[in-house]
Amino acid sequence: LKTPGAVFFIFGATGDLARRKLFPAIYSLYREGKLAEDFAVIGVARRPRSREEFHDDLYNSIQEFCRYKVLDTAHWNRFAEHFEYKSLDINNIDGYHELREQTEVLEKRYGIPGNRLFYLALAPELFGSVSVNLQKGGMLDSAGWHRLVIEKPFGYDLLSAQKLNEELSHVFKEEEIYRIDHYLGKEMVQNIEVIRFGNAFFEPLWNNKHIANVQITLSETVGVEERGGYYDHAGALRDMGQNHMLQMLTMIAMEPPSRLLPEDIRDEKVKVLRSLRPYASAAEVEENVVRAQYTQGESGNQKLPAYREEDKVDPNSNTETYFSAKVLVDNFRWAGVPFYIRTGKRLPVKTTEVVVEFKNMPTNVYLGQKHTLEPNLLVIRVNPMEGIYIKINAKKPGTESQIEPLAMEFCQSCQVGINSPEAYERLIHDAAEGDSTYFTRWDEVATAWSFIDRIAQAWKQNPGDIKHYPAGSWGPQEAHDLLAKDGFHWWPVN
Ligand code: BG6
Repeated sequence: LKTPGAVFFIFGATGDLARRKLFPAIYSLYREGKLAEDFAVIGVARRPRSREEFHDDLYNSIQEFCRYKVLDTAHWNRFAEHFEYKSLDINNIDGYHELREQTEVLEKRYGIPGNRLFYLALAPELFGSVSVNLQKGGMLDSAGWHRLVIEKPFGYDLLSAQKLNEELSHVFKEEEIYRIDHYLGKEMVQNIEVIRFGNAFFEPLWNNKHIANVQITLSETVGVEERGGYYDHAGALRDMGQNHMLQMLTMIAMEPPSRLLPEDIRDEKVKVLRSLRPYASAAEVEENVVRAQYTQGESGNQKLPAYREEDKVDPNSNTETYFSAKVLVDNFRWAGVPFYIRTGKRLPVKTTEVVVEFKNMPTNVYLGQKHTLEPNLLVIRVNPMEGIYIKINAKKPGTESQIEPLAMEFCQSCQVGINSPEAYERLIHDAAEGDSTYFTRWDEVATAWSFIDRIAQAWKQNPGDIKHYPAGSWGPQEAHDLLAKDGFHWWPVN
């Protein structure tokens, strides 16, 4: 770390997030020299675990999920040395006092000036009580900084999010709370800013005079996997819409900030969220938002089960596994430009992609009436392929005047030697450095909820009114009609 080191507390250290994302992220940071030797990690969970067992967990997680594999024994031992384990009943204050003593020993050993980062990889219901107990157990009494890192879901609706925020605010100040939206840690999502604000040929065109519509797709091939219990309660709107999708939309739509400082950037983002046109009635929701659930289907030769047959899902569930929406941003720049967003499980391709469709050229004398020109597109590919792709019209070589669309493509993930950092690496590093740019501020969370709540409330009035799509398909027909009504269509993803 450029700043003095810190102790990282990972609550939920025996859980899935720690194993798949957090340990590998810390190891990558160490390998890249972004973590020096002045750090320690204490894995905290209820289950008793010896230090050796914990180190084994750590090793296995890195070998399985990290983009770097373990180098050699000496290097590994030097890294693993920084990791301790603490079995803790999170409701028992005495345990926190023990944790404090353990922490102080480590701080002395590594010369850490009391900086403490608490990563709660726990169920959100526990965020409030753990925060209070950290305080009661003296964990926040050290000289350095204290930061709380939490995962979504941040509430179930605006009301519950407010309640949660209120609980946290008794212990932590807003600037000490780092709310993770891991999409903001993705390399290409951050690149949206550079593409927009660093290129003379995009920014002047980035408005309603030149852009016909914007399409944001977050499609997944997986079903709900082992998360049926959580997902059946949440649905696609809360799982992906309130957070990742609206965050991507704000990155595309925001005004250039006057300075590249966290609060200036977040101010611009929240302005976009405030400009979203709220759906005024259930009828407007119905007209502009499509929800659907997957039924049985297939992919290749594989038969895929219906959502209602998935583990821990109510067999009569009406939870949406897909939604698409037409969203309007009511400000000077975007008046009249529809943003179409869609996300779903069990779609044919795993991708995150933004398509900016430009307005058509007026038909001119040179081209005559016989040509219908395809619109220009700018496609930002976020995940799993990373790159940018521009579709332009050019003369077909060897013909009189035939015009064909061609693609100019920059494929970041095809370049040898580019091994993009995982979102969590970037975010853990930023939190330790105190850079909150790519974390969601409370007013962003709240404003996003007020937009989403209207949709959820309209749906609640009519739970059975959900559409269906076969697993492995691109969603229900209504999602295509949504664009067709405006004379557009979804551009096929690559
Ligand atoms: C999570 C959602 O936030 O994002 C999951 O809870 C989803 O349901 C995941 O699968 C997708 O993330 P990524 O990085 O794989 O696109």
